Amino acid sequence: MSNPPICDYEGSDYQASFWEQGGRAYEDAAEGVALRRLLPARGRLLLELGAGAGRNTPRYQGFERVALLDYSRTQLEQARQRLGSGERYVYVAANIYRLPFAPGLFDAATMIRTLHHMAEPERALAQVRQALEPGAVFIVEFANKQNLKAILRYGLRRQKWSPFSREPVEFTELNFDFHPRAVRAWLKASQFSAQRQLTVSHFRMGFFKRLVPLRLLVRMDAAAQLTGNWWQLSPSVFVRAQAVGQTPRPQPGAFFRCPACGEGLPEAGQNLTCPGCGAHYPFEDGIYDFREQAT
Ligand SMILES: C[S@@+](CC[C@H](N)C(=O)[O-])C[C@H]1O[C@@H](n2cnc3c(N)ncnc32)[C@H](O)[C@@H]1O
Repeated sequence: MSNPPICDYEGSDYQASFWEQGGRAYEDAAEGVALRRLLPARGRLLLELGAGAGRNTPRYQGFERVALLDYSRTQLEQARQRLGSGERYVYVAANIYRLPFAPGLFDAATMIRTLHHMAEPERALAQVRQALEPGAVFIVEFANKQNLKAILRYGLRRQKWSPFSREPVEFTELNFDFHPRAVRAWLKASQFSAQRQLTVSHFRMGFFKRLVPLRLLVRMDAAAQLTGNWWQLSPSVFVRAQAVGQTPRPQPGAFFRCPACGEGLPEAGQNLTCPGCGAHYPFEDGIYDFREQAT
């Protein structure tokens, strides 16, 4: 099977330049509201896919433990600096298309601002489903091609692609906008049942951000989010889905699984060697690395 391309943030100062100095306090707070509404109050073990520098991780306080997964090691290093190295967090450098976890390990997962980097979103969602136990909650955010700005631009003939058709639009390399119906169909095909949708960041325009005080703008967004089950016209959409169907039973004692051969591996806090195929996975500075296997 071919390997889909990866939008790797290795060495990027994304957290500082995009969030902390990028004037995105409104978007960050609006996402916080959506996560509070969709997350279960309590849980055991949550998987954060495309965790980046851990911007959202403090929002998962109701969970006993959180596994932060990202392809970029430097993003995880930043996350570890912010969140610390205690028992509560497991840092994993790995590819979402080849997840290294025992089947059914997690009772929840989130994927925020990450699906839009997936050239093969259905394949990514199928991997996530494998890592979840039946009944687990999955919160996925995606960039919505059917947003008001795109509809207006299309109506005024300033944009060629239709915001109403289901195919993804790649607006820059490995950055995709998806249609809400397409995302719901992929979720269903991957054995997820969509339960609730919230539309987010309705007022993501310089005009609103300059004129309306932050707290008021976030309140306005919080109210507008509640229309998400009826229509989706905002640039960002959050879906809460539940894992349905069966998941294969994990091998006893397995936390990880070898992404090369599928053999179960423990969470040992040290380098791992797969007893099935001999692949070697380093554990360095508190980060497990499953990106390449060295035999
Ligand atoms: C836009 S950032 C979002 C970070 C964080 N979720 C947030 O909202 O602040 C997307 C992250 O997804 C990661 N990523 C992209 N493709 C990936 C893949 N195939 N496997 C694992 N991580 C991936 C990138 O390295 C990056 O850190």
